[in-house]
Amino acid sequence: MEMEKIVTLCKQYGFVFQGSEIYNGFANTWDFGPVGVELKNNVKKCWWKRFVQEDPKTYGVDAAILMNPRTWEASGHVGSFSDPKMDCKKCKQRFRADNMIEEFSNGEVAAEGMTNEEMEKYIADNHITCPNCGGFDWSEIKQFKLMFETSRGTVEGEKDTVYLRPETCQGEYVNFLNVWRTTRAKIPFAIAQIGKSFRNEITPGNFLFRTIEFEQMELQKFCKDTDSMDIYADYKKRALEFVEDMGLPADKLRYHDHDKLAHYAKAACDIQYKFPIGWEELNGIHHRGTWDLSRHSEFSGKPMEYLDPDTNEKYIPTVIEYSIGADRLTLALLCEAYEEQTLEDGSTREVMHFIPAIAPYKVAILPLIKKNHSEKAQEIYTELSKYFMCTYDETANIGKRYRREDVIGTPFCLTVDDETLNNNTVTIRDRDTMEQITLPLDEVKNYIEEKIRF
Ligand code: GAP
Repeated sequence: MEMEKIVTLCKQYGFVFQGSEIYNGFANTWDFGPVGVELKNNVKKCWWKRFVQEDPKTYGVDAAILMNPRTWEASGHVGSFSDPKMDCKKCKQRFRADNMIEEFSNGEVAAEGMTNEEMEKYIADNHITCPNCGGFDWSEIKQFKLMFETSRGTVEGEKDTVYLRPETCQGEYVNFLNVWRTTRAKIPFAIAQIGKSFRNEITPGNFLFRTIEFEQMELQKFCKDTDSMDIYADYKKRALEFVEDMGLPADKLRYHDHDKLAHYAKAACDIQYKFPIGWEELNGIHHRGTWDLSRHSEFSGKPMEYLDPDTNEKYIPTVIEYSIGADRLTLALLCEAYEEQTLEDGSTREVMHFIPAIAPYKVAILPLIKKNHSEKAQEIYTELSKYFMCTYDETANIGKRYRREDVIGTPFCLTVDDETLNNNTVTIRDRDTMEQITLPLDEVKNYIEEKIRF
């Protein structure tokens, strides 16, 4: 399935629209529509349930997006969160020099450790041309800052630079002491957060894959260094199980262990998914040593040491980070769920095979004949909507209505007909098998709730 097809389908059925579309859009921003917002919210709910609700040693926070700018000095972002960019003078497109070198050399050359001058020389020596226009007229390479800056202050000329956070995890580190104090948790424990991050990416694109504004689902596990590699291994396993349970098949997922590590790290790994654009990172699991808390301690002047109540030992905890993009995961789930299916009678249907837990609507309430059955159907819709997202449709023939639900991934269609009026039973059609069963109306809520549990 091509990415273009997913983009078109998302727009057509209300999953995702281009950002600011009536103004001809705003590059690499996307708005989730009525169906898409439900899908992404369900993705976030499943993550939170798995990693916070069902884990007694993980605590949630919702930290401010705008943080004290010292945070970004401590984290190293002010000094070094930048990419080497170069412009094609012919077509005016901007590219990441390191990516171009890695692509050109099929990953043989690791541009990460090269200076700008070394990269310029490599590009010149190998005559690497512009991927857009084929030209060979490059600007010099400059470091391009990835943090969006804005300013704070009410008096003109007295503004302070503040940053839109480029990752959510700093809100977890700066709240380490608060969460420890208020929960009285013993190490190991984790702090989790879901929220928006912003990056002025040089080469965003591929729909939701790389955007300038996106949501991250991140958690930091604070632990004793001696336990850290076991905890790292455990999150690698749990992160993979999570995406498999969300509907991504094992043969399209793989670990990618990093060879090059930050000086403070003992290990780092991505989980990659086979997107229509190829194998790409879905999430990361990082061993971060004591780097983050040590730096915040140094820059804030607040001791970040944990006091072990059993042994009286004092130490700065080691951090294991697990981080996954909500939009990127939603994109993977959209790509995976889509099928253009040829049915036994030769006709085709488009269907989204989402697991029921993430489907935007859980059940569609469909009166068989509008004038006879709509009143009862609306009554059922009102009742079931108290428990889960339902949709109601009384337009067109029943076959067309089924197709509309298939393509937005509604796992169940509930048809209201004369049997409902006379015997209080309804027909439930399964999206994937298209089989129908008859159920007493008072069993429907439990039946659906059982099926949509994650
Ligand atoms: N705190 C660690 C961190 O931010 P990262 O590898 O830069 O690590 C983690 O980002 C995850 O966030 C990625 O695996 C990806 O799922 C998502 N992500 C990162 N940049 C993104 C972007 N520009 N657009 C969409 N998702 C992005």
